Amino acid sequence: MVSDSKVYGFFHPYCNAGGGGERVLWQAANDTLNKKSTNRIVVYTGDVDSDDEIFKNVEKRFDIHLDKQRVQFVRLSTRWAVDPNQWPVLTLLGQALGSVVLCAEAIYRYKPDYWIDTMGYPFTYFLVKLWLGIPLIVYVHFPVISEDMLGKLHPALSSLGGIKQLLKYIYWSTFMAVYHTSGRFVDIALANSTWTRNHIQRIWSFKPSVSILYPPCSTEKFISQEDLKLTTWNRENSIICLAQFRPEKRHQLIIREYAKFLRSTDLKSAPKLILMGSIRGKSDEDYVQSLKLLAAELKVPDTHVEFILDAKYQVVQEYLRKVTFGLNAMWNEHFGIAVVEYVASGLVPIVHASAGPFLDIVVPWDSESHSQSDVSDETTRTGFFFKSETDPDAKPTDMKFPRLHEAFQAASTLTDEEKLSMTKRGKQSVLNKFSDVKFDQGWDSVLERIDMMQVTGSAFPRALLILLSMFVVILGVTLFKSV
Ligand SMILES: *[C@@H]1O[C@H](CO)[C@@H](O)[C@H](O)[C@H]1NC(C)=O
Ligand SMILES: *[C@@H]1O[C@H](CO)[C@@H](O)[C@H](O)[C@H]1NC(C)=O
Repeated sequence: MVSDSKVYGFFHPYCNAGGGGERVLWQAANDTLNKKSTNRIVVYTGDVDSDDEIFKNVEKRFDIHLDKQRVQFVRLSTRWAVDPNQWPVLTLLGQALGSVVLCAEAIYRYKPDYWIDTMGYPFTYFLVKLWLGIPLIVYVHFPVISEDMLGKLHPALSSLGGIKQLLKYIYWSTFMAVYHTSGRFVDIALANSTWTRNHIQRIWSFKPSVSILYPPCSTEKFISQEDLKLTTWNRENSIICLAQFRPEKRHQLIIREYAKFLRSTDLKSAPKLILMGSIRGKSDEDYVQSLKLLAAELKVPDTHVEFILDAKYQVVQEYLRKVTFGLNAMWNEHFGIAVVEYVASGLVPIVHASAGPFLDIVVPWDSESHSQSDVSDETTRTGFFFKSETDPDAKPTDMKFPRLHEAFQAASTLTDEEKLSMTKRGKQSVLNKFSDVKFDQGWDSVLERIDMMQVTGSAFPRALLILLSMFVVILGVTLFKSV
């Protein structure tokens, strides 16, 4: 091997799962290989599928073709230790201990030059750093626990359930303290969205900055140059809400507010409401039935509301090409890939003013400077927001955002020119933020940053400390499994 060949170790025990997290892994892996012809990568995985099967899946699902010669898999036999089903009680603790065992196996089997955790096992970071002493990069999709959860448990000592609550609180706080400390071992921390960044930044408050690197969403594949040059608006006047039929998607709220909107407007010019989504079983079917009843009760005419269940991908795409508005009513949706699809497909989004849709996706865009804008006004906005008095965090005084029926009203009075310019800004914004190219650039700069870092090398004197902590962990796992 050439002397300056570097090996990047990706710790991703479920590398063949094919979800959003794996998309990030493989895009980053491909970028890492493209960065330098001598770079090699190692993927630590508990999957038993053959190398070829994994490569084939990556090609099929993500259209990523890796240089196979430079990719190596290190198979881990202790992945069971992070499987939540192994730990029916104290799941979080079990998984945390399990992840340390798994990580120890990984390091024992192969020592890379850089360690990259793309799944999120914070309780392993001390091990990587103390044992190997190499640069550690972590990509966080989701905080393992958040301070919100801790806040909910704050012991109410006056109540009778006090003791149990108190023990629970101590358990969680200890966990949080360890989680907090784990951040000290991380060299570069990346988060997949503003919501996640804010939470992680609060937990790892001593870190100068946790940066956001949005996952690659291939928005460049949705939007063509012709799309950006459209001069006429010929979409049908309807609102689509693309969401699973589950109560947290707040279909009831949508129907109530829509009915309210219809009462104050001319029926002929009102956009039609299309609720489209998948159902997973009997309870979801009952849910849809109750929604239909509600719509009838509120006298929403049949001509104005439509339910479409379990539509095929092609049908969804067809609707995204022909309707005008895209609605997402969920409160605190951490990201909202459906909203990215709305905007990329040229719909005018109407979304709840919280988390992903508010902070990341439907953000103001300045067409002149071709960048995100700090001010939201008629010339920069890319959609409509609402809040509701039924939001879990609603404050009666906070009336900054309209209610949903008002947002419907405002959206339905847009002229065609306004729709054209608003959706054009939206397309440019998501093209700029969530494209694969954007991710590649971000990952590139991460690689450059770690390239300049000092590698402290393997730390032999610390071996004792490691052995000791491993002993404690294994003891913990054994005790835990035996009760
Ligand atoms: C992956 O890397 C290859 C070069 O080996 C490049 O041609 C291709 O565009 C990359 N794929 C993606 C999806 O970035
Ligand atoms: C970040 O990861 C979480 C957990 O997997 C996911 O719910 C969220 O949609 C992701 N955000 C983005 C921007 O993909």
